[in-house]
Amino acid sequence: MLDQASKLREKMQNQDKKDIKQTRVITVTSGKGGVGKSNFTLNFALSLMDQGKKVVIFDVDLGLANIDVLMGVSSKYSILEMIENQKSIWDIMEKGPGDLEYIAGGSGFNQLMRLDEDQLDYFFHQLEQLQGYTDIILMDTGAGISRESLRFILSADDVILVTTPEPTSLTDAYAVIKMVHGLDPAAVFRLVVNRVTSLKEGKHTADKIAMVASQFLGVDIDRLGYLPDDDHVMRAVKKQIPFYLQYPQSMASQGIRRMAEVYLRGKDELDEAKGMKGFVDRLKNWMKLT
Ligand SMILES: Nc1ncnc2c1ncn2[C@@H]1O[C@H](COP(=O)(O)OP(=O)(O)O)[C@@H](O)[C@H]1O
Ligand SMILES: [Mg+2]
Repeated sequence: MLDQASKLREKMQNQDKKDIKQTRVITVTSGKGGVGKSNFTLNFALSLMDQGKKVVIFDVDLGLANIDVLMGVSSKYSILEMIENQKSIWDIMEKGPGDLEYIAGGSGFNQLMRLDEDQLDYFFHQLEQLQGYTDIILMDTGAGISRESLRFILSADDVILVTTPEPTSLTDAYAVIKMVHGLDPAAVFRLVVNRVTSLKEGKHTADKIAMVASQFLGVDIDRLGYLPDDDHVMRAVKKQIPFYLQYPQSMASQGIRRMAEVYLRGKDELDEAKGMKGFVDRLKNWMKLT
């Protein structure tokens, strides 16, 4: 009885603390590669930070591991090394420009699923340490649907799907929706149309995907927004400085800022975040099922 009362009190106290840190896990994905997913992830993170959120990027884009290249830093450690050398998640967390913290998956991240049970437990345990440390974890997953990114998508609180208006990018984005929906009909997608030449083109592109998804799968696609095709992005990539920091007044930065606002404003309407623990539980589950 006493126990129940104290639990209730605790719950109420937590509700009082308006913005309690129930870490929200967002995976960013795309059908096709090269659509601007890593640039979106990095600059969206910086903009969320600008708006008062604590964000950690988790770079699980295999092979190219390009978030660090975009930031002009090279990561010393990766998740795989953390597991193999029994390091903690704090040991491998690094800081980029604007004090953005990130964790590199490392090029061997796709070996994750070949780990033995003890190693996996260690990995999960380290991930859970992030609970409460940060408001948002942004995961940049690889393009296309590898088994690993599929599991991360299915386990996240939100999925942001990046596409461009190109037909190939669109059909690949649709393939992602279809595949994820097939495994989890409740999955919600938030669409970002990148490299649009006009607002109209952005809307038109989003309409097309939304229509097909609704017609053939009965899935509602939520729109996060449109990002203009902007030379500043390429220039910033060459300089290895995030465009949001290097060109804060560029169209691309303004677009990112708007999206971060939209995301944070709409957050109350989204399902409650399950936190890092919830993410890890779901990940464990999906590893058994997929
Ligand atoms: N909004 C944009 N405007 C202009 N060029 C862009 C934009 N977004 C991305 N790019 C270009 O596309 C390239 C690939 O972007 P990147 O974020 O690495 O894609 P992905 O992670 O999807 O493979 C960038 O180096 C940049 O030159
Ligand atoms: Mg990338």
